[in-house]
Amino acid sequence: MSDEEKRRLRSQAWFEGRGARNFANRGWVRSRGVPMDHFDGRPVIGICNTWSELTPCNSHFRELAQHVREGILEAGGVPMEFPVISPGEMLTRPTAMLLRNLCSMDVEETLRANPLDGVVLLMGCDKTTPALLMGAASVNLPTIGVSGGPMLNGSFRGKSFGVKDAWNLAADLRAGRAVNEDFEEAEGCLTRSVGVCNVMGTASTMASMVEALGVGLPDNASIPAVDARRRVLARMAGRRIVDMVREDLRLDKVLTREAFENAIAVNAAIGGSTNAVIHLTAVARRMEVPLDIEDWHRVGRDVPTLLNLQPSGRYLMQDFHEAGGLPVILRDMCESGLLHGDALTVTGRTLAENNAGAVCWNPDVIHSVAKPFMVTSGVAILRGNLCPNGAVIKPSAAEPRLLKHRGRAVVFENQDDLGRRVDDPDLDIDADSVMVLRNCGPKGFPGMPELGMLPIPAKLLKQGVTDMVRISDARMSGTSFGAVVLHVSPEAAVGGALAVVRDGDLIELDVEARRLELLVSEQELQQRLAAWKPPAAVATRGYVRLYVDTVNQAHDGCDLQFLVGRSGSDVPAAQH
Ligand code: FES
Repeated sequence: MSDEEKRRLRSQAWFEGRGARNFANRGWVRSRGVPMDHFDGRPVIGICNTWSELTPCNSHFRELAQHVREGILEAGGVPMEFPVISPGEMLTRPTAMLLRNLCSMDVEETLRANPLDGVVLLMGCDKTTPALLMGAASVNLPTIGVSGGPMLNGSFRGKSFGVKDAWNLAADLRAGRAVNEDFEEAEGCLTRSVGVCNVMGTASTMASMVEALGVGLPDNASIPAVDARRRVLARMAGRRIVDMVREDLRLDKVLTREAFENAIAVNAAIGGSTNAVIHLTAVARRMEVPLDIEDWHRVGRDVPTLLNLQPSGRYLMQDFHEAGGLPVILRDMCESGLLHGDALTVTGRTLAENNAGAVCWNPDVIHSVAKPFMVTSGVAILRGNLCPNGAVIKPSAAEPRLLKHRGRAVVFENQDDLGRRVDDPDLDIDADSVMVLRNCGPKGFPGMPELGMLPIPAKLLKQGVTDMVRISDARMSGTSFGAVVLHVSPEAAVGGALAVVRDGDLIELDVEARRLELLVSEQELQQRLAAWKPPAAVATRGYVRLYVDTVNQAHDGCDLQFLVGRSGSDVPAAQH
């Protein structure tokens, strides 16, 4: 055993010694068939698994965990796999975001409570990645993230077919340009394998963030879920985490301020999801790294979009991988001075060292800093009297003509109101109107659902309208697109200005100037706010009550207030 291994590991407090408790701890673990020599001070590694049949994107994780396990054993560690709740994006009601923080608590408390020296996080569907990173950040053990990988390219009637194509087909159906049979056939062509959505949606954005933060191995983001190389990556992560424990390479050495700045810049370069703003803020706050919504503007504003991938571009995740994957972008950005190339990663090497040899095999998929795909970048932060604490828009996903726009508000009180009226032929709306949806924020819904891409009214779709300015306190799916202003903070349910917008008010959006203004006088706005009454409580018990009572606003990451910061890994044992 090396000197590094002789350093007393956390797990030895459970397993080393002659006390009755040590006897019982070893005995109970041996009941699984674990030999006695596994208690000689080897690193004990948790494999935190979000496998669930209720999260189809992660349904290959039991197999993936086996590959991690083999890597851990090869490196001389002891694997201990454990489940945590799995907030799947597609099936969870009212929204997986409501459960992100609960999942993070599950991770945090399981890590703290058990004899683990390090952990491999198996993450895939949207919220599983931030939830696991948040929980692990609060505990600060040596940690590696392994993402599940994207599903294969969809293929529909001889053409590549992604989630953005599915959104367009849904709009065609509402406009009468497609029929139900088209839709049903497309459904089976979109999801051809396990894995996460095959566009740069939130799941692949967050997998890219894992790689950009340095908390995952190179190629983590783009290897398809069913590709053998995904299994190899899992195995290598299993090997590496054992060494990380021996080196005492904890999460706080990787998740530094520089790492978060790298992630913000990479999110811009890949045309990443607006959800990353909330999730990275929450992870940073857990890690006690100062990160502000303004950092998204400061760090990301000069970064062009390099990736021609849906929803901002044309290709799908499998194409991205075949073109060279995220290492190509990381190498180019390091060489161009857009990243902190000296940021330490879980490999023990720097980000620049990890990606130095990356080659681009298809410049139409992965463009370069010298010849970008788009000069506009991923996320812009807006301010103004409608959003004094900020709002978010993804300019690369909007029709450029709408990035500076003034229009009259058409207000929807909530999701039900929207559903009832949006396709009403008598709705007083035209292509220049600004659609406003409120009471869909963290507290108001609750859980801040992905309703921000309000559907364009059917009568306007039939006129050929393809984009409109839409504003809400909701989020939107990373697969969504349009001139959509999201995350308005403060939200309507806590008395933000969004709560008092009226039909016919003029609203002005100016992305270049980073402004979003309700064009009423300050006096009028204050009078309306003074007369505003908070909505009735929506949650009376259980976790949802806890969430509504304590959740932060969007600009603070939507974490529960009492979860911000670290708890650490020291937990006293009960004495007996
Ligand atoms: Fe799970 Fe898209 S629904 S990644």
